[in-house]
Amino acid sequence: MEVVSQINGCSGDTAGKVIICKAAVAWGPGEPFVIEKVRVEPPQKMEVRVKILYSSICHTDLSAWKGEDEAQRVYPRIFGHEASGIVESVGEGVVDVAVGDHVIPLFNGECGTCRCCQNPNTNTCEKMGVNPMKSTMVHDGQTRFTTADERRQPIYHFLNTSTFSEFTVLESACVVKIDSEAPIKKMTLLSCGLSTGVGAAWNTANVEAGSTVAIFGLGAVGLAVAEGARARGASKIIGVDVNSHKSTIGKQFGITHFINPRDSHKPVHEIIMEMTNEGVDYSFECVGGVEVLRTAFLSTHIGWGTTVMLGIHTTPEMLPLHPMELFRGRKVVASIFGGFKGRTQIPHFAKQCILGVVKLDEFITDELPFEDINSAFKRLVDGRSLRCLLYL
Ligand SMILES: NC(=O)c1ccc[n+]([C@@H]2O[C@H](COP(=O)([O-])OP(=O)(O)OC[C@H]3O[C@@H](n4cnc5c(N)ncnc54)[C@H](O)[C@@H]3O)[C@@H](O)[C@H]2O)c1
Ligand SMILES: *[C@@H]1O[C@H](CO)[C@@H](O)[C@H](O)[C@H]1NC(C)=O
Ligand SMILES: [Zn+2]
Ligand SMILES: [Zn+2]
Repeated sequence: MEVVSQINGCSGDTAGKVIICKAAVAWGPGEPFVIEKVRVEPPQKMEVRVKILYSSICHTDLSAWKGEDEAQRVYPRIFGHEASGIVESVGEGVVDVAVGDHVIPLFNGECGTCRCCQNPNTNTCEKMGVNPMKSTMVHDGQTRFTTADERRQPIYHFLNTSTFSEFTVLESACVVKIDSEAPIKKMTLLSCGLSTGVGAAWNTANVEAGSTVAIFGLGAVGLAVAEGARARGASKIIGVDVNSHKSTIGKQFGITHFINPRDSHKPVHEIIMEMTNEGVDYSFECVGGVEVLRTAFLSTHIGWGTTVMLGIHTTPEMLPLHPMELFRGRKVVASIFGGFKGRTQIPHFAKQCILGVVKLDEFITDELPFEDINSAFKRLVDGRSLRCLLYL
């Protein structure tokens, strides 16, 4: 098969050919990313190949790269799922995106035809729903990435996205077309963090005007929940984070009160009870820890309080609740990708974002060249960045 090198800006007709380009490859749990040449195969049936323009870093990339969940340790692997790009070529049978379209990848795909896709009450998809255990394409069980040397070693995919690469191959169910007039750079945030947080407030919890909210973990996801709750007219939005620096940042995103559990003399849920006349209407867990989940649960009002879990839990621990506790009327629900059906609902959400219903720019705290991916990860680990946009 013909091979085209995209290193050093070589361009031209690449459809149907192997592309050699740069990618950030993770060779083992937590090992620094190595920017190296990889071979990217052409898209097969119902697949698209995308030139990535921007990729940011979400905490889910961080947990997976570190191999926190041992069952998911598959290397070498190309991580990254929050991104934007342009369709370079499409495989057989792809009709709803075309070469040149602006797209964002969807880690939680939407096939459009399964029973879940046909049901308006869920964004789970039986065929292309999120599954961090998977690392090869559906069509042939192979990877589309291999090392560029003569070994041609397979490099595994992640979350059906693998966006830490100049080119990636995606299932067509895992991309959504974005209006070419839309600012593509900011649209990057819609492919995970922003949609996840805002959607959890709008779709999963359905926060209403005047209600009270507590958010645990003020990363981009938690702050997007705050934006969603603010836009809905919540009266009190309490942010909880172990990093006091998030207090100042949080104020820009609608956080009205802040608690640092490490500075407080009492259990956090008791402080929230006092602040809210016996508990919030909605609490959101955006950390991924069972202790935090329990505190979020206990912070809600008995009778109707709802806890929405967004954090990804990488340990084998079970829910930190006794079944009898549920008789007090508190609910716990989970939210993946904010409950949005990616291909059918994100275009409308993108329009709302462009109209300014929720903030976008403020989430982009850093921009770095792709080659600086290791320092970008460090900024997230250190709690200094919300989203660092890598430009490829
Ligand atoms: N459900 C989904 O679809 C979905 C999508 C994206 C991310 N996530 C998950 O959401 C979580 C947040 O992602 P992010 O990118 O915003 O992460 P982030 O690293 O930017 O933010 C996490 C925040 O939690 C704070 N924190 C850590 N431990 C805490 C504790 N014990 N109590 C209170 N705060 C604490 C940190 O200081 C940090 O500010 C992660 O678990 C991520 O995997 C889920
Ligand atoms: C994409 O997601 C589907 C559904 O979880 C899975 O079967 C497939 O293996 C994934 N592809 C990749 C490349 O991970
Ligand atoms: Zn994410
Ligand atoms: Zn489906």
